[in-house]
Order: sequence, then C-alpha cells, then structure tokens
Amino acid sequence: MPPFATSRCSNLLICMTSLQHTALLFILLLAGLTQIPQPPPGTLPSREAGLHAFDSILTVLRHPRCINCHPSGDRPMQGMEQRQHYFNVQRGPDGHGVAAMKCGTCHQRSNNPYSGVPGAPHWHLAPRSMGWVGLSDHELGAQLLDPERNGGITVAELEEHMLHDSLVLWGWAPGVDRNGNQRELPPLDLPEWRAAVKTWIGSGTPIPSPK
Ligand code: HEC
Ligand code: HEC
Repeated sequence: MPPFATSRCSNLLICMTSLQHTALLFILLLAGLTQIPQPPPGTLPSREAGLHAFDSILTVLRHPRCINCHPSGDRPMQGMEQRQHYFNVQRGPDGHGVAAMKCGTCHQRSNNPYSGVPGAPHWHLAPRSMGWVGLSDHELGAQLLDPERNGGITVAELEEHMLHDSLVLWGWAPGVDRNGNQRELPPLDLPEWRAAVKTWIGSGTPIPSPK
C-alpha cells in the first residue's frame, strides 16, 4: 500500500473513533439527564399544583421543629407540646435573647448530644413579624411574601432560605432532647420539602384565598 493510503486510512480511523466518542458521550449525557424527573421543557407547574405544594409546606411550617422558633409572642417554645422555653427565655432586642440569657450561651453551632441542647449556626428567634402562631393559611402565605414582614427578601431569596438556611436544615437533623430521645422530624422528608418549595415558587407562589 502506498504511504499515502495508510495515512488516509489512519486519519479516517481517528476521525471515526472521535465521532463514536462524541456519540457515546451524547448517549451517556442523555441517560444521565433522564434520571432526574423534569417537567417538559418550557412548562411551569400549574397554579393548582402550586396550591397543593403550599398545603404541604404549611404542614412543615406549623410543625414544632419550625414554629417553636416562630412564635407570635416574645418567647421560643420547646418540644412537641410547644411548652414555654425553660428559664423564661425572652426574645430580647434582636431575637438573640436578653443579657445573661443569650441564645448562644446555651445553643452552639451544632446539637449537643449530651445535654440535649439543640444547635445550628446563628441560632436565634425569628422576628416578631415572622411569628406564625394563630395565622390562617392565607395569612401565613401573605406573611412569607410580604417584604415588610419577611425581612425584606425577594421570592428568590425566600426560596434560597427555604432550601438552604441552616436553621431550616436543622429541622431535619434536630438531634436528641434532654432525655436522649430523638426529636420528631417534620412531616415531609427533606427532598419532599425541597420539591414542594420548588413547585410552589415555580408556579408563581399562589396562596389560598382568605376564608
Ligand atoms: C440557659 C440555656 C438556654 C438559653 C439561654 C436558651 N435556650 Fe433554647 N433550649 C435550651 C435547652 C436545654 C433546650 C432543650 C430542651 C429539650 O428539648 O429538652 C432548648 C430548646 C430550644 C428550642 C426547642 C427546639 C424544639 O424544636 O423543641 C428552641 C426553639 C429554642 N431553645 C430557642 C431558643 C432561643 C431562640 C433562645 C434565645 C432567645 C434560647 N433558646 C435560649 C437552653 C437554652
Ligand atoms: C432557632 C430558631 C429557628 C428555627 C428552629 C427555624 N427558624 Fe425559620 N427563621 C428564624 C429566624 C431568626 C429567621 C429570620 C431570618 C434570619 O435571621 O435568618 C427565620 C426566617 C424564616 C423564613 C423567612 C421568611 C419569613 O417571612 O418567615 C422562613 C420561610 C423560615 N424561617 C422557615 C423555617 C422552617 C421551614 C423551619 C423548620 C424546618 C424553621 N424556619 C426553623 C429562626 C428559626
């Protein structure tokens, strides 16, 4: 065979293999993508799906793991029975407690498995404007979306907070209480919560109308 032909052949081979590689990569990519269930491109969850997701979100917000820190008064609550916090702990000027009773004196950056004191970064009481006790479904939804009362955050920031904030995430890793018993988890698991938040936000944050 003349050298010319050999070189053509080997060029063709290189060319073929790289084409096959591209095809293979493409197939792998598709296979990878199809593992994550996604709505068809360009479609957003419906308002109905959003309202349904918001119902599930409410079951979490009203669970003691969350609402114990979102009281409508000036004291955090404790436990499933939502009793008043020990030692008459108070909100204080900034939600971090008063003088000798600062939250951070007892609550550290992580749960204490020996004393049963729960902990997470920046542990403090939600501001009064974010108190949820006694609010209707409509009122709670309106509170979340009102920049006057939600800490001046946008919907995108609200989503970020709900998906990743350390106090929110603590709800799914609440540790043990003083008697060494595991604290109960919220009614949705973390992936279900995140999916509900994304559906609600993606559908345009619909909330139930006032009753
Ligand atoms: C003197 C120590 C101390 C101080 C100060 C303190 N806490 Fe606590 N807190 C505890 C202990 C102990 C527990 C655990 C009680 C149990 O579950 O048995 C607790 C539990 C809690 C819980 C209950 C968690 C749950 O879901 O059941 C919340 C919420 C809470 N504290 C918020 C606060 C906030 C907010 C502050 C500051 C305003 C604060 N605490 C100040 C000791 C303290
Ligand atoms: C230790 C107290 C604490 C716990 C527990 C806690 N939060 Fe909060 N939450 C706060 C504070 C404080 C803020 C105000 C923003 C900030 O300073 O991080 C807040 C703000 C929020 C907001 C922002 C918007 C608003 O308008 O209310 C949402 C949503 C929220 N929390 C959801 C949750 C959920 C869901 C859980 C339970 C899984 C939870 N929180 C548990 C203290 C807490």
